[in-house]
Amino acid sequence: MTLVFESLFGGTRRVAEAIADGIRETTPVSLMSVVDAPAVTECDVLVLGAPTHAHSLSGPASRAEAESWARDPVKHLRFEGNAGTTGVREWIDRCPSVGIGYVAFDTRVDMPRIFTGSAASAIAKRLRKQGLHEVLPSESFLVDKDSHLLPAELDRARRWGREIANTAAAAAPPETRVKR
Ligand SMILES: Cc1cc2nc3c(=O)[nH]c(=O)nc-3n(C[C@H](O)[C@H](O)[C@H](O)COP(=O)(O)O)c2cc1C
Repeated sequence: MTLVFESLFGGTRRVAEAIADGIRETTPVSLMSVVDAPAVTECDVLVLGAPTHAHSLSGPASRAEAESWARDPVKHLRFEGNAGTTGVREWIDRCPSVGIGYVAFDTRVDMPRIFTGSAASAIAKRLRKQGLHEVLPSESFLVDKDSHLLPAELDRARRWGREIANTAAAAAPPETRVKR
């Protein structure tokens, strides 16, 4: 399994790491930041996640805005290394159409989705268009209005990772299933 994530302030990265921990309990997974992830051409399931920006996926302008938020000492946010250089939107555009399974997730503010939008919905829409099929419904992990992850979200992410691995294992043809 391959898990690719985008993260400007580290929240989506920590969620991605927790999801990978949950998957890894039964299934090998390679975890990569979108900044250095090669285009995926072959894997059984692609897990793809990003922070919600302007109701959807980030772009150059929203990433620049995130960088300016991180310079504001009042916000207590730390910018992730070279995070501003690219994002999941651009990465999907570079990936060839492949008939593999996907699972999408995002981080977004803890408010009804109608007010926040969802990067995971945007990911799912784009991947479906490229011929990938959904393995498990998308999930959102919540941050407060200052972009800090809510306390219980990493445990929930780890549990969701286990669910991804179990669902993928049940869906795999018998000869490819990992023996436990
Ligand atoms: C420019 C910008 C626009 C944002 N727009 C939204 C939004 O429309 N909806 C939302 O729920 N969160 C929005 N957020 C908050 C992000 O979702 C939040 O910063 C992110 O989940 C934190 O993840 P990260 O630590 O991985 O960057 C926005 C953040 C930035 C920097």
